[in-house]
Amino acid sequence: MRPFSPVVEALPRSGIREVMEFAAGREGVIHLEVGEPSFATPDHIVDAALAAARAGHTRYTPNAGIPELRRAVAARTAARWGEPVAPEEVLVAVGAVNAIFATLVALVREGDEVLIPDPGWPNYASQVPLAGAVAVPYPLRPENGYLPDPADLDRVTGPRTRVVVLNNPSNPTGAVWPDETVAAVAAWARRRDLWVIADEIYEDLVFDGTMTPFAPFARERTVAVGGCSKSYAMTGWRIGWAVAPAALVALAAKTQEALVSCPSEVSQRAALAAVTGPQACVEEMRRAYARRRDLVVEALAPAGLLPTVPRGAFYALADLRATGMPSTEAAKALIDEELVATSPGAAFGDVAEGMVRLSLASADEALLTGCERIVRFAARRLGVADRE
Ligand SMILES: Cc1ncc(COP(=O)(O)O)c(C=O)c1O
Repeated sequence: MRPFSPVVEALPRSGIREVMEFAAGREGVIHLEVGEPSFATPDHIVDAALAAARAGHTRYTPNAGIPELRRAVAARTAARWGEPVAPEEVLVAVGAVNAIFATLVALVREGDEVLIPDPGWPNYASQVPLAGAVAVPYPLRPENGYLPDPADLDRVTGPRTRVVVLNNPSNPTGAVWPDETVAAVAAWARRRDLWVIADEIYEDLVFDGTMTPFAPFARERTVAVGGCSKSYAMTGWRIGWAVAPAALVALAAKTQEALVSCPSEVSQRAALAAVTGPQACVEEMRRAYARRRDLVVEALAPAGLLPTVPRGAFYALADLRATGMPSTEAAKALIDEELVATSPGAAFGDVAEGMVRLSLASADEALLTGCERIVRFAARRLGVADRE
């Protein structure tokens, strides 16, 4: 038999899944490892999908999505950016994950380098080699509030670098970039003549102030990624989008023909209802996450386990580095000893080694008890470390 693809065989196993499997079947475990909204999709969106299916909107659509949804996403984006956006600049995709891959494939050549955040969403590290490119991490340091530093970016940029992936608000750090950071990174990307994939899937989940969209600072080179999963609790509907220069969107639509043909039409109609319908549901969910963020800060910060306060998305990184435990070991010990499941920092890169990620998409009670257990665990381990 001929061997399988070495690229696919070399893809790392998800460190998050490893912990999920370790926790599976155990009774009484508090689950803080899952990165999914804890809310049901709002009724008016579900109703729109049902009506669409009954009306026969159950067929293939254009590769880049139905014109109504492309127009609606263009209008929503224009309102946020404060400048016109054309429907031809919108690619509707099967979740943000597919929007990123379809555009990335259209941007890189074999062997090009793509800068990805460390810590960052693990899918960047697996998508880049699948696109034939090489992933090069850049650090987001806790002592810098997990914000990127153009000097760090510059240090890892070389002649083969073609694209930089940014994530604001960030999974797993919860960092939200101030204007100055956005402006500085945009100026740097322009100086280095790089494409930018700005993953802004958590744009609506900001707790303090607002987030600054990247594209208006470097529109000609930016792929802005968004979608319905996080804002409208629609992870299973699989609708995301990329807003980018029309020529790139046209190319990415060609890759969509090869990859997925098109996103589900029923889901696109549901997304249309989400984007054009009442937005109170988004604010309601945002407030719930903000309240849970406050709970986590109150529980973890006094124990010195939270180097920076998360300002957006729905995650917090608890810093257990003082225990000296590798994060996968710590995550497993937390399950064994305290019945609380978290994601190991190592799943997100090297910088978060020694930390564990907890998700704010859990009920208040569970989150509070989970945090208390993490604090107790750290205190016990530090006691042990002191005695050693
Ligand atoms: C940073 C980031 N980008 C993209 C995604 C994927 O979103 P979608 O469900 O739209 O594919 C996630 C999901 O967890 C994420 O955390």
